[in-house]
Amino acid sequence: MSDAPAFDDAFRAKLADLFRWRRDVRHFRRDPLPPGMAEALLETMALAPSVGNAQPWRIARIDTSARREALAAHVDSAIIAAAAGYDEERRAAYARLKLHGLREAPLLLAIFTDEAPAAGHGLGRATMAETLRYSTVTAIHTLWLAAWAHGVGLGWVSILDPDTVTALLDVPTGWSLTALLCLGYPDETTDVPELERAGWQAREASHVVTR
Ligand SMILES: Cc1cc2nc3c(=O)[nH]c(=O)nc-3n(C[C@H](O)[C@H](O)[C@H](O)COP(=O)(O)O)c2cc1C
Repeated sequence: MSDAPAFDDAFRAKLADLFRWRRDVRHFRRDPLPPGMAEALLETMALAPSVGNAQPWRIARIDTSARREALAAHVDSAIIAAAAGYDEERRAAYARLKLHGLREAPLLLAIFTDEAPAAGHGLGRATMAETLRYSTVTAIHTLWLAAWAHGVGLGWVSILDPDTVTALLDVPTGWSLTALLCLGYPDETTDVPELERAGWQAREASHVVTR
């Protein structure tokens, strides 16, 4: 215990910068991550909290260009289909957004949740099965921040049909898709989210009620 590091003001200031400058990235440089970087980042995910310590996240690394293109084509069609839900003015703004970097990002990961992991012995999820998926999201956010600390951007892609993506990736039964992620060096860095810069949606204060 006595070896635990102390976090000082300088560290906290840097951490605040990390939170403020982390972005969801859709515009990637094409240069690959240095050797070992992907593996190191995936190891950091293992430090995330999880219900019952079950660590239900499962990771598929997409390494073939055929699968990459199939995913990109699927997401492109899901993006077009989702446009139908907007009125004309919103639809025009939506059409201008870039919503994934699946063709450019050097590293693609599909993150799944094992819906019945042996680890954890069911602790903590008897009444809230969804805590398994929440756990996977904590690991994704850990990855997101760890990557950004190395200058590596991450883009979360969710405009897709999870069953289609699961079938495309041919993963073990019982894994449900939580996220499709693009990782690589960002084309630019900014402290303003892309959707805010595009006039789509700005950040708002957290909604808090007092009881
Ligand atoms: C669960 C989740 C799903 C998301 N899906 C998409 C997506 O499909 N396409 C996209 O461009 N951004 C996606 N995003 C990124 C958000 O648009 C982004 O986080 C938000 O606009 C705030 O910007 P920032 O992350 O740069 O702060 C997703 C983010 C989360 C957390």
